[in-house]
Amino acid sequence: MQTGCTLWFTGMSGSGKSTLSKMLSARLRAMGARVEVLDGDVIRTHLCRGLTFSKEDREENIRRIGFICELLSRNGVIAIAAAISPYRAGRDELRARIENFVEIHMHCPVEVLVERDVKGLYKKALAGEIPHFTGISDPYEPPLAPDVTIDSSAQTPEEGVSAVLRRLEELGIISSPYETIPGGDESHQG
Ligand code: ADX
Repeated sequence: MQTGCTLWFTGMSGSGKSTLSKMLSARLRAMGARVEVLDGDVIRTHLCRGLTFSKEDREENIRRIGFICELLSRNGVIAIAAAISPYRAGRDELRARIENFVEIHMHCPVEVLVERDVKGLYKKALAGEIPHFTGISDPYEPPLAPDVTIDSSAQTPEEGVSAVLRRLEELGIISSPYETIPGGDESHQG
């Protein structure tokens, strides 16, 4: 039997939400858990296709992802969401509704994000080519009391994963992050 939960990664584009959620899901699967990853970039190609980056559409995006997380986690799955989810109110709404909602803030100074610019979006946003870009020309409201904060400019992804696993253990959601189940299948990626 497994306790379902929602692990909600919030943070600006390029802060490492997708990387961490993938690594975390692999670790949890290796421990024998059932895990599903809902990544904003991916979800926007089907469930949320057509939604824009206006405040209303971002809120709708988060509501839909949250709804799926709720269904999964109440059925014993570990649902991992990775979406900017810039508005505090929307995230707090999910926290109030979903049992075992764990908010993970992926922090990274904007200078570092601009320097990394993996997708080349910050350059465009700074040039005014992408309006309403989170952290540049659109708000990002950091959580006031996240369950975990990870600074991806100072911590390695492995350190971030360990921090989340430790917190899950403290919360009683997993028994021991260091006890892996023999024969756990790490190859199954969502
Ligand atoms: S959210 O704000 O609605 O939570 P979501 O996580 O789904 O956003 O999508 C963010 C991704 O969309 C970014 O990583 C980036 O690749 C892309 N993107 C395109 N336009 C924007 C924008 N204006 N602001 C932020 N991200 C954008």
